Amino acid sequence: MLSWLPARVVALRAKVFEKVNGDNAITFPNEVIGPDRFQELYSHPAANGRSKGAGLSDLFWYWLSPGPEVHQEHLEAGPRYDDVARATRTFLSGSTEELSAAATRCTAKVLDEVLTGRVTEVRLRDLMMPVWAEYFYEMVFGEPCPRYARDLIVDHADDVVSALKCTGLRHPARRARLTRYLRVRLADVRHPLPRTLSETEQVHYLQGTYFNTAVVQMSEAMAHLLLALAQHPEVARRIDDDRYCAHVLDETFRLYPLFGIAHRITTADIALDDETSFPAGSVLCFSYPAYHATGYANPDVFDPGRWESTAARHEHHIPFGVAANRPCPAWRLAPLAMRTSAREVLRRVTLHSSVSHTRSLPSRGPCLLVREGPVPRRRLAFLRVRDRWEDVWRSVVQLVLGTAMVLHAHHLRPAGRYFDTHDTQGCPVRH
Ligand code: HEM
Repeated sequence: MLSWLPARVVALRAKVFEKVNGDNAITFPNEVIGPDRFQELYSHPAANGRSKGAGLSDLFWYWLSPGPEVHQEHLEAGPRYDDVARATRTFLSGSTEELSAAATRCTAKVLDEVLTGRVTEVRLRDLMMPVWAEYFYEMVFGEPCPRYARDLIVDHADDVVSALKCTGLRHPARRARLTRYLRVRLADVRHPLPRTLSETEQVHYLQGTYFNTAVVQMSEAMAHLLLALAQHPEVARRIDDDRYCAHVLDETFRLYPLFGIAHRITTADIALDDETSFPAGSVLCFSYPAYHATGYANPDVFDPGRWESTAARHEHHIPFGVAANRPCPAWRLAPLAMRTSAREVLRRVTLHSSVSHTRSLPSRGPCLLVREGPVPRRRLAFLRVRDRWEDVWRSVVQLVLGTAMVLHAHHLRPAGRYFDTHDTQGCPVRH
């Protein structure tokens, strides 16, 4: 009953986005550039424009505000980008032991608060947000995270990811509360901040990188990992085996990549061969789910065992982007921290869930955490029915809110307006 609706609505939403953004965007892999040449194009030196010249950028800047113009992901190549990327590398560095111990500590702290009864029902993304809020607060300030700061961070990150998934509208005032807090704390940050940024920009850099991207991405990634473990208890039982655990992470990242699409704007003509070229200013969209589904037997099946006989680097597998074109700076930290956090969860509870596991996971991953005793079968049956219903009405909400935000972003043109008055290094320009 109505089970066809969510998929139709998702397709319709994609059409609305395409139309309003108005870019002549090309999505890969396609018939011309198949999976075999996907990375060649993604890695091309001229596929390096990030924000200027694409309607799609207005939408991302709208979702990530305040301060999208200094978010590393959206900075154009040049000295300012290099300065910011250097700072991020310093923040994210640390020994395996330190990074892992912090993940264990922050996970344990939050679980101690949440696990009060024999069975606890959670949404996995919500469970994980305070964990990573604590983790990245410690990384930035070098001290334990006070409760009020944690709440500010979670409110902000949740607001961003809900808008991104079109399950909620933006609440600028909620985000501004964290901005004010970070401004007051700027002098307490434990590593040097990018010197090419003004103080306000430094605040936005902290907010965008550590208290938005880092918290959101880690919470989403952990929701996928824990939901996969909940639905594959035979896999969860082997999680203490390091080698096997690496396969589980690879498979989770393959089937549920956090990026649907990453886009680039070509800054010069690209000629791949005599027949295939893209003029400067083309908007190239790289589809992670489509690429990750090629070259595997039964690509839709969650099967960590497939990694026993091959290595991720030989396959169509780029969960952290491509090395030659601005990969994720957390490619080393994220799997380490996720592994120890997941083990800490499984040390205390078993996980059970009957909900559908999709890549965008707008349900936030409903799950039962069971400390001891039998699995509550009736509650699992209830979760399944509720999940199907929520899917139907949520898909309609997403269509309505998504359309409203796309139109609003189109009207505000945050990226377009910025580049009307600034060059790619953030310097004011006169026309
Ligand atoms: C499992 C967790 C994560 C995954 C799967 C992930 C994935 C990715 C991917 C695929 C990209 C490249 C997109 C592109 O080519 O445009 C990216 C970029 C980025 N990620 Fe992550 N990410 C994760 C966690 C984090 C964390 C914890 C941080 C913390 C700061 C972070 C910060 C960034 C930044 C700043 C960029 C932009 C890089 C640049 O343009 O130089 N990510 N991430």
